[in-house]
Amino acid sequence: MVLNKKKRCHIRTFGCQMNVHDSEQMMELLEKEGYEETDDIRGADLIIVNTCSVREKAEQKIHSFLGRVRKDKTRNPDLIIGITGCVAQQWGRKFLDKVHHLDFVLGTHNIHRLPQIVSEVERSRSRIAETTFHKCVQSLGILTLPKKGEVNAFITIMQGCNNFCTYCIVPYLRGREESRESGDILDEIRALAAHGVREVTLLGQNVNSYGNTLKNGADFPTLLAMINEVEGIERIRFTTSHPKDLSDGLVDCFASLDKVCEHIHLPIQSGSDSVLKRMGRGYTSGEYLEKVEKLRARCPDISITTDIIVGFPGESDEDFQKTIDLMGKVRFDNLFSFKYSDRPGIASAGYDGKVVEDVKRERLAVLQKLQESYTLEKNRALVGKEEELLIEGASKNNEDEVKGRTRTNRIVNLPGENSMKGKTVPVKIVKAYMHSLRGEPLSGKEV
Ligand code: SAH
Ligand code: SF4
Ligand code: F3S
Repeated sequence: MVLNKKKRCHIRTFGCQMNVHDSEQMMELLEKEGYEETDDIRGADLIIVNTCSVREKAEQKIHSFLGRVRKDKTRNPDLIIGITGCVAQQWGRKFLDKVHHLDFVLGTHNIHRLPQIVSEVERSRSRIAETTFHKCVQSLGILTLPKKGEVNAFITIMQGCNNFCTYCIVPYLRGREESRESGDILDEIRALAAHGVREVTLLGQNVNSYGNTLKNGADFPTLLAMINEVEGIERIRFTTSHPKDLSDGLVDCFASLDKVCEHIHLPIQSGSDSVLKRMGRGYTSGEYLEKVEKLRARCPDISITTDIIVGFPGESDEDFQKTIDLMGKVRFDNLFSFKYSDRPGIASAGYDGKVVEDVKRERLAVLQKLQESYTLEKNRALVGKEEELLIEGASKNNEDEVKGRTRTNRIVNLPGENSMKGKTVPVKIVKAYMHSLRGEPLSGKEV
């Protein structure tokens, strides 16, 4: 007989980096309750589906995953299945009526209650839904230490969003914007540094407005300056930046703070001013271009990535052409592109001029093809150049190689061994592909 056998939990994560970090926090809490993580769904005692609702397709994926695990529950009636994240927040208790093999529904502001809820389900086999919003989200500060020697870590610096872009469901599911105190954030980063983390990514729906809800607190550039002083941390990244709140002070940080990496994700969404207006984005394409110029003037090597939605209601061929023109002017280093989809409760769901699926698909294909040429062009321009890499560990497909990241957020594979993990090394780029680069170590050189 095996005594004290650990219970096993499988967490399946959908959606953004914030959700990835929420899953890390949930696992941290469950480990304290005697659970261990497993990739094997069939061997799990607890399955958590951490969900995203940002587009219709994202929500469909959740339903098909839930369909799959129904069989596991039939096979093992003791299995506990819970749903967390944005779709959980959206449906609340109604989810329990809709999906009969679900044991609990936990909303975005209640992660800290996960252990209690799981033990309540274990004890009484009752079905529980908890989706109350809280002004101060306790789970934001749950420290998740690197377990497998990871050199990078996420830190949530704020919750929620106040922007209500007309196409976006996030503010309804993550609540109002609230920033964490800078002291708490710094304590967390120092603890991570003490455990070997070298690169931190600060998370928030709009990090540029960090501090707005704090009385006499730091603003975002001040927070970055404080993190820049933390010993052991070598690189600072953040996401996402809203163009309307990108201040000159923040532009300056890319040049003045040595640990702030030369990469900004700055979603434009569309190149047409009339579309941007109806999206409620609060800037014009001209203002966006001015910010790009400022960024490049202050930090010439900065990598700029973006998000674009095609087929927003009322988007004409001319509007779409303006997006293509803008891409030509900026030449983004990379972009994430999406077909517009209606979501429940968002303002644009009620807008006229819905674009048919075929047109959306066509526009997406045109845009992606164009971006591929820019991405490749940008990557090829790096061949022969020296880059500073932070080694993250073994390469995906080759054990004799390691993979690292440039400061501009490009993946580079090179010959090397696992002992290099966490080291910052200089490399020469020798080959460029669409999604990665190949490098050669520049031995004898120190960064
Ligand atoms: N807070 C971030 C991320 C929001 S969600 C930001 O402001 O950029 C990530 C991306 O999903 C958005 O940038 C947008 O491009 C896309 N998105 C959001 N709602 C969408 C919808 N209804 N249809 C298609 N794409 C959408
Ligand atoms: Fe959504 Fe706009 Fe907020 Fe981003 S800034 S989360 S797109 S409402
Ligand atoms: Fe999705 Fe929620 Fe993130 S809707 S994009 S998981 S904030």
